[in-house]
Amino acid sequence: MKALVLSGGRGTRLRPITHTSAKQLIPIANKPILWYGLEAIAQAGIRDVGIIVGDTAADIRASVGDGSRFGIRATYIPQDAPLGLAHAVWTAREFLGREPFLMFLGDNLIKDSLKSLVDRFSREKPNALLLLAPVPNPSAFGVVELSGERIVRLIEKPADPPSNLALVGVYLFDSSIFDAITRLKPSGRGELEITEAIQLLLDDGKKMAHQKIERWWKDTGKKEDLLEANRFVLKEMEDDNIQGEVEQCEIRGPLAVGKGTRLIRCRITGPCVIGEHCVLEDSTIGPFTSISSNVRIVRSEINHSILLEDVRLTNLPRPLADSLLGRGVQITRDNSCEGSLRIMVGDQGEIQL
Ligand code: G1P
Repeated sequence: MKALVLSGGRGTRLRPITHTSAKQLIPIANKPILWYGLEAIAQAGIRDVGIIVGDTAADIRASVGDGSRFGIRATYIPQDAPLGLAHAVWTAREFLGREPFLMFLGDNLIKDSLKSLVDRFSREKPNALLLLAPVPNPSAFGVVELSGERIVRLIEKPADPPSNLALVGVYLFDSSIFDAITRLKPSGRGELEITEAIQLLLDDGKKMAHQKIERWWKDTGKKEDLLEANRFVLKEMEDDNIQGEVEQCEIRGPLAVGKGTRLIRCRITGPCVIGEHCVLEDSTIGPFTSISSNVRIVRSEINHSILLEDVRLTNLPRPLADSLLGRGVQITRDNSCEGSLRIMVGDQGEIQL
């Protein structure tokens, strides 16, 4: 079996971060989202992994390389334009050949092991095996309608959802999906929808299996989802791993600190991860905060947030919470501002005061 990982999308709902970075590379607990998926694929025993890339191809390649660090062999497959998930599968048809494959959306984070799913597919040999999860907002997803345990209909982003069961971004297919894709027409959003291709399989009387997610899944398309994913992954952290220097700090809960980082007179409530070569001084950090490398925080308080590299926070008058700060963002209290705010923020930035 092969795997196809989709890392082409533009991440418009995560601007401005995605103006300069691929959404699949945003770190969750200081590890790119995409790496979690690749690790899960390797753990399921799949070695041959095609990665669909678009505008951010260079960044994805730089991050994943030849795949050997995950124990996989990565093949990059350029998609000219983000014309839909089914279009991505079609683009990969030469790489996939006639073999069955696991398709994984690169911005999805899932805690279930993929091994049992792959084993079940090999054992039962359906034409498609779908992973489903109950969600509070089914209109934002592909949704299935069940009759007993049988899938009878699939609809992409329905205004009036027939159930709360969403299609998780993990699918297993055999090569009959290609024939269905050739018969698709672009949807309302101008894309070739994989959900509609699966409906065609159903119409053709193909064998369809599904499984409900047992643990946890998140489509990290928006800031709130990223922060929730960050909380979830950090919550699983058990041990401290402190490689930097800690001076006169008060620490509670699990904490990871990278090499060359100095924590001086800070109060830290885990779980938190702090990258390499940071300096945090006289500050209150956490819980549920991920700080990338080369960050400097002085006399400030921050919790439930994700900070990318090179962020600077100085003398913040109030705690920063539920925030996602891109690379090199600087926030400073400057007493010469006399009650006004002075801001330079990139296109589609978002500030809540
Ligand atoms: C896509 C699929 C949708 C699925 C979702 C899972 O949506 O079209 O059926 O439920 O991924 O993450 P999109 O991310 O393109 O909005």
